[in-house]
Amino acid sequence: MKVYKFFLLCLFLLSLISCAQVSNPKNDAVAIEQKIEVLLSKMTLEEKLGQMNQISSYGNIEDMSRLIKKGEIGSILNEVDPVRINALQHVAMEESRLRIPILIARDVIHGFKTILPIPLGQAATFDPKVAEDGARVAAIEASAVGIRWTFAPMVDIARDPRWGRIAEGCGEDPYLTSVMGAAMVRGFQGDSLNSPTSIAACPKHFVGYGAAEGGRDYNSTFIPERRLRNVYLPPFEAAVKAGAATFMTSFNDNDGVPSTGNSFILREVLRKEWGFKGFVVTDWASATEMINHGFAADPKDAAMKAVNAGVDMEMVSYTFVKELPDLVKEGKVKESTIDEAVRDILRIKFRLGLFDDPYVDEKKDTVMYAPSHLDAAKQAAIESVILLKNDKEVLPLNASVKTVAIVGPMADAPYEQMGTWVFDGDKTHTETPLKAIQELVGNKVRIIYEPGLTYSREKSEVGVAKAVEAARHADVVLVFVGEESILSGEAHSLADLNLQGDQGTLITSLAKTGKPVVTVIMAGRPLTIGKEVNESAAVLYSFHPGTMGGPALADLLWGKAVPSGKTPVTFPTTVGQTPLYYAHNNTGRPADGTELLLSETPVGAGQTSLGCRSYYLDAGFKPLFPFGYGLSYTTFKFSNIKLSANSLKKNDTLGVTFDLENTGKYEGTEVAQLYVQDKVGSVTRPVKELKRFARVTLKPGEKRNVSFTLPVSELAFWNIDMNKVVEPGDFGLWVSSDSRSGKEMSFKVVD
Ligand code: NOJ
Repeated sequence: MKVYKFFLLCLFLLSLISCAQVSNPKNDAVAIEQKIEVLLSKMTLEEKLGQMNQISSYGNIEDMSRLIKKGEIGSILNEVDPVRINALQHVAMEESRLRIPILIARDVIHGFKTILPIPLGQAATFDPKVAEDGARVAAIEASAVGIRWTFAPMVDIARDPRWGRIAEGCGEDPYLTSVMGAAMVRGFQGDSLNSPTSIAACPKHFVGYGAAEGGRDYNSTFIPERRLRNVYLPPFEAAVKAGAATFMTSFNDNDGVPSTGNSFILREVLRKEWGFKGFVVTDWASATEMINHGFAADPKDAAMKAVNAGVDMEMVSYTFVKELPDLVKEGKVKESTIDEAVRDILRIKFRLGLFDDPYVDEKKDTVMYAPSHLDAAKQAAIESVILLKNDKEVLPLNASVKTVAIVGPMADAPYEQMGTWVFDGDKTHTETPLKAIQELVGNKVRIIYEPGLTYSREKSEVGVAKAVEAARHADVVLVFVGEESILSGEAHSLADLNLQGDQGTLITSLAKTGKPVVTVIMAGRPLTIGKEVNESAAVLYSFHPGTMGGPALADLLWGKAVPSGKTPVTFPTTVGQTPLYYAHNNTGRPADGTELLLSETPVGAGQTSLGCRSYYLDAGFKPLFPFGYGLSYTTFKFSNIKLSANSLKKNDTLGVTFDLENTGKYEGTEVAQLYVQDKVGSVTRPVKELKRFARVTLKPGEKRNVSFTLPVSELAFWNIDMNKVVEPGDFGLWVSSDSRSGKEMSFKVVD
């Protein structure tokens, strides 16, 4: 009997130990590595290469099943039907030799069904919670159909609005993009990858894609290593720190090396320096595109270069399955390299819990457009809208406004307002401004709806005339213009950033009526809108705001919400100023505004009279709106800015405190921004760099003491010796409401 009790006690203790092991991530990781090795030891070379192969759904389920049975597919993208996904997983789990689940992928960029504002709009919120909540909503909806991997976030720094894909990222700034991108990774992946609602993130496009020459998509880039490290790599490193499970290579060749064949970025930086343990997928056929680049001779050469450079999975170009058997036989690719890639892929499949249960409940579509998801989308849209102008406080509209004319092609364009990369969001769920305003104001305000133009590129004198007629009968004109969703995003670069079609004429004609014109712009990029800003009494810039854009804008227009968005990217006055960004170097001849412009230049002027400064004779050097800019219905005052010390050592932390006061009539949120300038370096440094920001909500008259802490280590940059160091010396510091305002303070870093 005693022996029996002792035996039971042992069992109990053992179960406690194993419970502890289950809940301990380190033990889980060890267990996963063991399982990977067991599996790998059973795999043929062909089965290994199958894991490295991603196909886009063939549509025909039988064809895919045949390949899955033979172990020739590791991942499928563009499959969204839970019944079909379950069927495919069933083949993998029951009919393939090694029972390895399929990883189902999709571009869930800013929402699956419920569409959040485009990422550039999310960046305008300067609110990582918006980005995290939005990605969570997307993950919950996408995972409900069996998608467990998204190709997002895009954390490419983009400083040229001609590039259509500027819409998909967080704009021009490495710090803002790092914070927002990391938040998106957390939102997609949730607390633990193996939760059924978690989807693996895939920061992309590694790296430099946003620097496409001339803003023309897919174009070559020339980013020297120092700039790569100081500007383009930090958001990717932040994504690794946030736990991103996978990475995608970019299409561009940088300084002659296509990313898909670039072992420096994939092996040295990503794996050795940053310790990344996930896997790397190519972009769509970017392995075979190395042939077009003139970097690989043929598909075999492309496969060899991609795998040896550190790519683990190939998206849709099939050179790995076709060419690697021979390459391994010939010794040109080591089987150990293949094993490493397969380990990386299997590790993510294990971590996602797919081996335990790859199936989904086929009837879980109740999560789509759930009220809480729509709330998150509305909140994101509210915070994303930037008030660029508000003359005579025309906004918010008040009770004296009895009749409004609603005009413009974006007023009731449910598909267009969702923006780029929307495959699954259903436009019948979109709430447009027209519908939302009707609901909000009921019969208290008379609405005359006359779109004038039916789509953004349309030209129509008749339409414009009708809209003008409507405006004449209104107290205020609300004009909704911008870009159809197809005008931004992949492959949709533009050489002209003015409003398309007759939209500019429409605004000019409306302004001529003398009625106050409130212009709302829904677009995928900053447009050159100087003329329209001049002609309008108020301007709200809403990047494509998604499913709930209408209610968000209606609330903002009537003051149920107060604008707080800030430009995540500099707005140029004209396309010829691009690329234009706030964190530029000073040059030896910085412009200061005293330069002569074309109109002021005397006829027959002598050669030295034009200022000899870095500016455009016809467009100066100032942007239309600087980075970080955005007004509110209320006003804010920064005062009493104090630094914890004027002289700091490299291990110290700088404290910055200041008072922020709401000096206006409405409760509102200001995005307080902290910028720093390293005055003299072993290499030239940007005139300002964003280092911290905070959203602060204050009631009218409320004053709050706000603080930032900034470890001096965060002033480090890649210096002349290509080391990341803090160089001692003088620094400027600004606490302000945008990148151009604020009074300069100073501090020193000493050895
Ligand atoms: C090409 C795009 O560049 C990339 O961002 C996307 O994820 C893939 N296609 C898959 O659709």
